[in-house]
Amino acid sequence: MEKLIIEGGTPLNGEVVISGAKNAVLPLLAATLLADGKMTIKNVPRLRDVNTTIRLLQGMGVSVKVNDDYHITTDTSTISSYVAPYELVKTMRASILVLGPTLARYGEAEVSLPGGCAIGSRPVNIHLSGLEAMGAEITVHEGFIRARAERLKGTRIVMDKVTVTGTENLLMAAVLAEGTSILEHAACEPEVVDLANCLNQMGANIIGAGTPTIVVQGVERLHGVNYTVLPDRIETGTFLAAAAITRGRVKTLGAAPGTLDSVLQKFREAGAAVETGEDWIELDMRSRTLKSVDITTDPHPGFPTDMQAQFMAMNAFAQGIGVVVETIFENRMMHVAELMRMGANIRLEGNTAIVAGMPDLYGAPVMATDLRASASLILAGLAAKGKTTVDRIYHTDRGYEKIEVRLQQLGAKIERVNN
Ligand code: UD1
Repeated sequence: MEKLIIEGGTPLNGEVVISGAKNAVLPLLAATLLADGKMTIKNVPRLRDVNTTIRLLQGMGVSVKVNDDYHITTDTSTISSYVAPYELVKTMRASILVLGPTLARYGEAEVSLPGGCAIGSRPVNIHLSGLEAMGAEITVHEGFIRARAERLKGTRIVMDKVTVTGTENLLMAAVLAEGTSILEHAACEPEVVDLANCLNQMGANIIGAGTPTIVVQGVERLHGVNYTVLPDRIETGTFLAAAAITRGRVKTLGAAPGTLDSVLQKFREAGAAVETGEDWIELDMRSRTLKSVDITTDPHPGFPTDMQAQFMAMNAFAQGIGVVVETIFENRMMHVAELMRMGANIRLEGNTAIVAGMPDLYGAPVMATDLRASASLILAGLAAKGKTTVDRIYHTDRGYEKIEVRLQQLGAKIERVNN
């Protein structure tokens, strides 16, 4: 099994180019199911989840071409199946994103019911009740969601929790529904806005994306476009955290500073000098020790749950006590026990972690339990004294493109081994 071996203690220094956003490209690839004819997505990150989505679309009979620059061109004219099988859904919950567009365009869809995962139970009830409200007939049988509808009908849907993929699924269903749909309590995440921008270019009529109320006027059909994925804000934040935790200086290029306001504010509170331009962010720690910060995760524009684990690692090395509260997922503190194996001083009370910063942590063998937990352990390893071995890095590869190569370019002593 592949592992990362990190020799900690080198301040990172340099520039890194940010990839397209994982959480934007997955719904965009699902949205290609809505296009009559060909559609091309650019700035696609080379990630395991993208490969899984390609396999999912190919399994449905969609023709998918990946060119040398990793631009992905799809053609739905060959579609022959409306099924997302268990083998793929179990490795990537975001497979649920094909449900809305497939049902809206083809009148039927079957998607294996995603189970729980390492960070919580993660139900899809809001996706299903929203589609039912639009007139779909939905049954859940033998672990499969089966949805049918001749043509979905626009309606007002009030989601009782803010759900990112739930909002995206209902948005992709509403664009081809008859009449007007109003999505209330919608997720405001930048990836939802990116999807809406793409759908509008394809001929949809959506207003209000990025606010809690999205209004969609249904249309008869959508056409293919060339669309460039927005930069990954979580990858950006993770590289900036690598600079902060090693007391270094890193400039992220091709970034979208406007998508990271709450995170940049916390970096500044932690003592970092942060500068931004139109498409870059530079974080300079000026060799100073981090200060602890309190974090409470929230839907956008609040502090993202996908940056919680990275800030936990930063707090473990900081001066003072930081309180980290996770409000989105019920079981997203698995990195705490691993950080403690490296000497972190953290008390966990339910979904609240009280972190007393230590001057030093010490390298140890640790195990990644989910994608962002793996980022947290890599960060801790970069700053700890001695050697850290991070196991189960297949989690890392789901969301970070060639992480070790890019960290090496910033001066990190990190390598991938296979044993
Ligand atoms: C997306 C992101 C993930 C991020 C998360 C929260 C993608 C592919 N993944 O996941 O990286 O951590 O948003 O920002 O974009 N919920 C329900 N019923 C539902 C749907 C959700 O109760 O039908 C609950 C979930 O259990 C969770 C909360 O709502 O407690 C938010 O989840 P949601 O926003 O749906 O997360 P994802 O879209 O799966």
